[in-house]
Amino acid sequence: AAQLKGKDFLALVDYTTEEIEYLIHYGIELKRKQKAGVPHRILEGKTLGMVFEKSSTRTRVSFEVGMYQLGGQALFLSKNDIQLGRGETVWDTAQTLSRYLDGIMIRTYEHRKVIDLARGATVPVINGLTDLAHPCQVMADYQTVLEKKGKLAGLKVAYIGDGNNMVHSLMVGASKLGMNFAVASPEGYMPDAQVIQTSKDNAAQTGGSIVVTADPREAIENADIVYTDVWASMGFEAEQKEREIAFKNYQVNEALVKYAKQDYLFMHCLPAHRGEEVSEGVIDGANSVIFDQAENRLHAQKAIMAATMI
Ligand code: CP
Ligand code: NVA
Repeated sequence: AAQLKGKDFLALVDYTTEEIEYLIHYGIELKRKQKAGVPHRILEGKTLGMVFEKSSTRTRVSFEVGMYQLGGQALFLSKNDIQLGRGETVWDTAQTLSRYLDGIMIRTYEHRKVIDLARGATVPVINGLTDLAHPCQVMADYQTVLEKKGKLAGLKVAYIGDGNNMVHSLMVGASKLGMNFAVASPEGYMPDAQVIQTSKDNAAQTGGSIVVTADPREAIENADIVYTDVWASMGFEAEQKEREIAFKNYQVNEALVKYAKQDYLFMHCLPAHRGEEVSEGVIDGANSVIFDQAENRLHAQKAIMAATMI
């Protein structure tokens, strides 16, 4: 824990395999304490600021409740209510907020803004989702997989759908954890080429593998985990109609999951659009662990905050 004190949590690429595994286990430990009623006021008297430039249900509530359970408190800072939304610079915002707060979580559009905020801040900055990455979600997701499957390395994760922030963080995380990762996206909606290359380089070190294809059937073959996400992420709502056409053969449904392992886990970061990226039967079926993932946002982020903001 000591070596993570003061460190930003911007993307999984900045974290080693050991650090990611440490945080996942720390999340499991804090979950056990919370459920047993064992106090763990590790951030007593500390405050997290939460800057939101996009909507949120899970991220906002889990960070706020998590700080409370750790003995601290959290402030919701909507972009409409702070001067950042009226053109105050990221640098001045970062410097000012650092004089009051012990950590800053930000959800925004450009990943660059989060990097700039972290550069200007003297307290840890946590990425609560950008157009490029959603690392907190993936910490909760791989905690969920470890709890359900008892291991991570060697498992196959298949992601079907848009080459967005979710797949980027899932792929980098899988590559650091020695997992086999396959993504199927239509041409024009493939994941970022740099993220694919970095993940392939990591996988070569950890014994994992990365496959990128346009064929959902190839990606899902023999998968332990089947993951999907919305076709139009926040900020891309105007493309909804054209995306429905581009993605029409990429729905995760009963016909497709037949090719996964019989005991596959269905995962989705939520919010979901039933009948678009996933059929009702699959997302609400026996293999779905979507609410375990949502719950683990709380425990995983408590671990990230307790390790970096202590
Ligand atoms: N999965 C996730 O980040 O959900 P919210 O957008 O509700 O925070
Ligand atoms: N890809 C989605 C994830 C939401 C949690 C989005 O960015 O809107």
